[in-house]
Amino acid sequence: MSRLIVVSNRVPDLGKSAPAGGLAVALKAALEQRGGIWMGWSGKSSGASEPGKLRISEHGRITFALTDLSNRDLSEYYEGFANSVLWPLCHYRLDLTDYARKDMAGYFRVNRFFAERLHPLIEPDDVLWIHDYHLIPMASELRRMGVENRIGFFMHIPWPPPDVFFTLPVHEAIIGGLTAYDVVGFQTRHDVENFALGLKREGIGGDAGEGWLEAYGRKFRAGAFPIGIATGEFEKMAQRSVRSAAFKRIIESFEGRDLIVGVDRLDYSKGLTHRIDGYERFLVANPAYRGRTTLLQVTPKSRTEVPGYAEMQREVAEHAGRVNGALGTLDWVPIRYVNRAVGQTMLAGLHRIAKVGLVTPLRDGMNLVAKEYLAAQDPENPGVLVLSRFAGAARELDGALLVNPYDIEAVGNAIAQALSMPLEARRERFAPMLERLRHYDITRWCDDFLAAIGVDRSDRASTAL
Ligand code: G6P
Repeated sequence: MSRLIVVSNRVPDLGKSAPAGGLAVALKAALEQRGGIWMGWSGKSSGASEPGKLRISEHGRITFALTDLSNRDLSEYYEGFANSVLWPLCHYRLDLTDYARKDMAGYFRVNRFFAERLHPLIEPDDVLWIHDYHLIPMASELRRMGVENRIGFFMHIPWPPPDVFFTLPVHEAIIGGLTAYDVVGFQTRHDVENFALGLKREGIGGDAGEGWLEAYGRKFRAGAFPIGIATGEFEKMAQRSVRSAAFKRIIESFEGRDLIVGVDRLDYSKGLTHRIDGYERFLVANPAYRGRTTLLQVTPKSRTEVPGYAEMQREVAEHAGRVNGALGTLDWVPIRYVNRAVGQTMLAGLHRIAKVGLVTPLRDGMNLVAKEYLAAQDPENPGVLVLSRFAGAARELDGALLVNPYDIEAVGNAIAQALSMPLEARRERFAPMLERLRHYDITRWCDDFLAAIGVDRSDRASTAL
């Protein structure tokens, strides 16, 4: 049975007591089953001018191979090209891209470094699975070193249309980098189409039919693999959470008001200021709800070292403060804004008691919070998901109230519609979505992708992921 090698910029710390996310759990299970390596950045700076050595540790059948990165690498590769160029570009925010040749060179240098360190660990039958925009050129680096193993790539964030993508000065090296893989997975059909059209417009390849693309005379597979969550576990977690004594105190603190919940990493792609404005519009247009609802917005800080993120933190806090100042009363605060991480179990409980889940990113690859909100609901009395049509999840979750997040009034109206929706209508919308989430969960996603790289299902049949 061939081993699996997973490479991602961040590697979850499975030793931590905090529950790991669904993706980490699924990949860990796939690795444990087959045996394999998980390689990536340790999350630390080496403090030196060179990246550190690989730190190898064994956890059962998984070998973790982690490396520190130098401050220069972190600045050029992670903060620079990955998060100040590729991230805004792939989220259609050309106004926020900040391209510098030095950062681009750092990005390719770190990818080469990852490939060089991994190369001696690769055995002939290993299957490699590389994750996300930080590591696009890794396969071409490995191929240059003579690696002929099957290599898959999954893009967790959107792939933009050619006119947006081609504003990137090194777009050919990036799009060409993906053609060195055997399978390239995206979140939605739309992303696959954008990618195939990019190859065609650039004149380097195009659609070869039936899920195959060709470029530079080489054929490879590309497809949509919408990522899921650990649905069953999340359902159970939400049920347990609301029964705990700690959670009962939180429920009491809402004093019987209808809860609307938003949970997002602090990022401009999440549309937080638009969302707050939409909620304000709802309160202004529906005065009867004033004093009777609370928007709980949980927004842990993120990428604070990347320019623009700290500024955004100020902006979102200002918007929330303005609405609270203008509409709040002596005994009611319209928005509770929490700027720190909240544990998974607590979040699951909050989702369960919230009448509305507000997930309104301006652009998002998938958005797993939308799926978690649904999985946490009581099927007998479910809440309503208000979802941006620009989240990948909108393509699957058609029972949600889909909104254009740029249309503040539409967001306000959707909140009102959600809060007043009769039970029967809520159930009708909810049931097929839960069914789908149970069926296409994170395990199924992992299986489907591995099958596309040619990992035989019978290899994996003995252990439930
Ligand atoms: C997104 C990306 C992930 C990334 C995560 C957190 O979900 O797709 O690759 O790890 O954001 O961002 P960070 O920069 O903290 O790793």
